Amino acid sequence: MECIENNTGRDKRYAIQLIVNGDSYNIAVKANTLLVNVLRDQLNLTGTKKGCELGNCGSCTVLLDGEPVDSCLILAIEADGHEIITVEGVAKNSQLDTVQQAFIDNAAVQCGFCTPGMILSAKALLTRNPHPTETEVREAIAGNFCRCTGYVNIVKAVLAAAVTKDRGA
Ligand code: FES
Ligand code: FES
Repeated sequence: MECIENNTGRDKRYAIQLIVNGDSYNIAVKANTLLVNVLRDQLNLTGTKKGCELGNCGSCTVLLDGEPVDSCLILAIEADGHEIITVEGVAKNSQLDTVQQAFIDNAAVQCGFCTPGMILSAKALLTRNPHPTETEVREAIAGNFCRCTGYVNIVKAVLAAAVTKDRGA
């Protein structure tokens, strides 16, 4: 990370590189710019939502080097050189990911605020643990809040996605 010349004081900007959904971006950010704001405002990836901005709701969840993180708690400069997956990067070649399809099939798609984060937390879980128990699924999405409904269909969807992946579908 380099400080860009001719910038001083609070407006000083730093050149960073982010690899987002497989694409490399060289951008300039202030020291206090949050990752969620870079994704939404500079890269126009608005699938990542801002809810509480306090690390409580999980609506800003992205994968940072494969791990689910709250992008409202991470400075963009901390992500310099790292790989990020947002919900826009989950489907491949217009083909929904197994987890996304399972959410649809199990009526687990809820509002646009909580669903992207749930999908990414579920994907991270199934990558590190392809055969989770219901308890493990609930633990994995514990940081993703929905205050509107229960989590029954979401848990069903993640368990169904695990079975589908098992079949190699
Ligand atoms: S907006 Fe990041 S956790 Fe709520
Ligand atoms: S917060 Fe998304 S459906 Fe409740």
